[in-house]
Amino acid sequence: MSVRQAGPAGGPAVVLLHAFPVDGEMWRPQLGGLSDRWRVIAPDMAFAEPSVDAAADEVARLLDDVDLDQVVLGGLSMGGYVTMAFWRRHRDRVRALVLADTRAGADTEEALARRTRQQEQVAAGDPSPVVDAMVEGLPGDYTKEHRPDVMDEIRRLMAGATAEGITVALEAMKRRPDSTADLATIDVPTLVVVGEEDALSPPGVARDMCDALARGRLVRIPRAGHLSSLEDPDAFNAALRTFLEELG
Ligand code: MLT
Repeated sequence: MSVRQAGPAGGPAVVLLHAFPVDGEMWRPQLGGLSDRWRVIAPDMAFAEPSVDAAADEVARLLDDVDLDQVVLGGLSMGGYVTMAFWRRHRDRVRALVLADTRAGADTEEALARRTRQQEQVAAGDPSPVVDAMVEGLPGDYTKEHRPDVMDEIRRLMAGATAEGITVALEAMKRRPDSTADLATIDVPTLVVVGEEDALSPPGVARDMCDALARGRLVRIPRAGHLSSLEDPDAFNAALRTFLEELG
């Protein structure tokens, strides 16, 4: 698993799991913005198998490799699905959680059909139609209209997606179990973040998820869509910083 890291080696560790179809580079604003105090670790999830559980186990192996017993674990969207799998399988290694622009529920019939269509599109070998649709579909309207630099960055990050990588990640998401019942078992502090313009995992989904948590806190990011950490890094980092500071 290749990994980006920043911050003091002995500092409290925060591991951030990326969305689809990008890699750990999406967390560059957090690697830069939080590493004054925290050790920020952003792996690339390779999905050796089409399974969020297997990806979670890989993250646990990464923690072994870097000698970390317990971390704050966060994920955005697909990264959140793996974060919930990690909680099911390795909860003793979790100090606190961050669930950003994600959902606990499994795929609906409609989502499954959409993913199958996307897999068929990339099977021809050209990922660009799927990638182009995601570049347009994930950010909020405000970002699309007013943040051309962020749109360029999203395009650049997604341009790295390969047909194989897209296919296996889609399969992992299709097969992921429903994590709704697991929310009630989460007894660590959990920050739920959502862009107010997130059309994929909208604020209502985030609110319900937060309500099911014993120690959940919801932060809504105005003028941001599904990629809130990239669309408004300052607001996202401020929310994360406050949460991490309160953990001590
Ligand atoms: C993501 O942003 O990781 C994906 O859009 C999640 C999904 O398709 O469910």
